[in-house]
Formats: sequence, structure tokens, C-alpha cells
Amino acid sequence: MLTQPLLKLAVSPALAEFAEDVRVGLTKSGQREILSKYLYDEVGSALFEVICLLPEYGLTRADTRLLRTHSDEMAARMPLPAHVAELGSGSGKKTRWILRAIACRQPTFYYPIEISSAALAACEKELSEIDLVHIVGYEKPYLEGLRAVANRREPGESICVLFLGSTIGNFDRPAADDFLRQVRAILATGDSLLLGTDLEKNTEVQLLAYDDPAGVTAAFNMNVLARINRELGADFDLKQFAHEARWNAQERRIEMHLRSLQRQRVEIPGAHLRIRIDEGETIWTESSHKYSPSEPIEMAARTGFRCEAQWFDEEWPFAQNLWIAE
Ligand code: AVJ
Repeated sequence: MLTQPLLKLAVSPALAEFAEDVRVGLTKSGQREILSKYLYDEVGSALFEVICLLPEYGLTRADTRLLRTHSDEMAARMPLPAHVAELGSGSGKKTRWILRAIACRQPTFYYPIEISSAALAACEKELSEIDLVHIVGYEKPYLEGLRAVANRREPGESICVLFLGSTIGNFDRPAADDFLRQVRAILATGDSLLLGTDLEKNTEVQLLAYDDPAGVTAAFNMNVLARINRELGADFDLKQFAHEARWNAQERRIEMHLRSLQRQRVEIPGAHLRIRIDEGETIWTESSHKYSPSEPIEMAARTGFRCEAQWFDEEWPFAQNLWIAE
């Protein structure tokens, strides 16, 4: 801990929170960590878009295929929503199909909720020309954004929440339940949630999806250190870290880590922090939980929903789950 900050930074609330989260995560006893949401600055969001194009990362294509193939049936099975809120819209590319299927039946508000301003701008541009869709973007955390949407609801109107791409997998299982209960508490009975879940598959296939030979995922992971250098004035030497993807069989998740290649010191002036990292020690940057086909049905029942329908991709085990709030 430094008593005097080495740099005087003009600190926005978002930057102050980033600094605090980095400080807490990197000083944890045991496993150090950096929260996965910080992977998505402008560079990270762009790298994630490239990951989605990799042959090894079948997740996004499976997600999109299911939405494209079944969107009419999905829309028909949900109470016709006037408000569609998407948690973590990203570029919005795969949302087009379901949004079109909903909006062809009635005028629809679409609310992308995104912490990445670059992704939000891309999403608004991508989906701006769909007939009868009015876009109102929120650069807010998920639950805050969803509360803002719920406040706009008029009596008799229904909300559909989109939580696609298996982003739920970033939460560990108890935290996912907790998050979904909080979503449910903001919604009304009869509202719907379309949840994308990546399913457990062959371990080599799963590992390759998070450790592609071209090194795009490695760059995506490593960028979080570069971001800390850029925004918090740190001196991480990226050459002294290696990207690592692991399958945690106990928790049934892929974990991304950054492994220190030598014993080293890092200074992070913006977080008033100086740390020493051992050779071989890792910083945990993300979890991607994988699910059994029936798990989303049980999750729904535990969190105040019922699972109305599921659609499965044949090529890349993945499920879209349509939940209705009970
Ligand atoms: C966007 C969180 C679903 O966990 O598969 C991709 C992010 N990380 N490659 C995932 C990610 C590494 C992705 N999610």
C-alpha cells in the first residue's frame, strides 16, 4: 500500500470503482482475481467480436442459429412484449432476429443495457432500422438498467428480458441464482426471460474454444492488464504473463487465468497499490460455467420462473430457454 498516490488522476466514479475492484481483487489472500466485466473496454469488446468469428468458438454461432431458426416460435410463446430489455447486448448482431419477430406483431421498445459505451453505440447502429422498433440504450449495470425499463411500463404491458450468449455463465452457480431472483423481483408475473446457456461438451473442444491457436482469446485476456496500465497507470509487463484456460471439473466451468512467468513486482498508482506476484501464480479473470440440458429448468424453478420451452442446437451443444415469471 502506498500512502501517497504517484499520479494525480482526475477520477470519474467509474474509474474509482475500477481502481477499488482492482485493489480488492489483486490483494485477495489465496487466488487473486480481476472481475471479468473489466475485460470489456473498447479494445476488449472488439477482441470479443473477433472471438465470435473463430472456428473454435462455436458458442455465438449456435446462439445466433437458434434465434434465427426459431424466433417466430419464441415470439409466439411469450406474452407479446411492448418492452424488450437486453442484458449485455454487445454488438446486437444476434438480437435482430428475435427483435424482428416480436416487433412485426406490435410496436416495441428495445433497451440494450451495456456497461461498454462502444458496444452500446455499435448495437444502436446495428438495430436502428428495424421497423416499429424504438431503441433506448442504457449505459448501466444490468439490474439498474432493468429497473429503469420496469419504471417505463404502463399497466397491461409486458416485458421480455434477453440474456443471451451464455453470459449467465460468468456467475458462479449460487450467484447466478441470486442474480436471476433479483431479475425476477423487478419483473411482473407473466413477463418473459430468454436465457442462452452453453452446454457441457467434450473437454478438448471446450478448452480450444478458450485457447484458440491464433491467440485471439489470449489477447482478449491479456488486454485486461493493458487496460489497467492505460487507465490506472500500472506497469504490468505483459510479456511476463501467459494466458491459460482450464476446465474445472468440480464446478463444471472453464476458467481463464493469467499466469505469472516469473516472480515480479507491479505498481498500480491509480489503485494506490504495489504488489509482488510469485512465479507460477495466477490471476483469475473469468469463469464460463457450462450446463446440463435440464439445468436451466431447475434454475427457473428455483428463481421464480417456469421454463416454458427450450431449443437446442445440433452442431454445438447450446440451449435457448424461454422462461415465464410466475
Ligand atoms: C461473453 C461471457 C459468454 O464466457 O464464453 C469468450 C466470454 N471469454 N472467450 C464466454 C469469453 C473468452 C464469453 N461470454
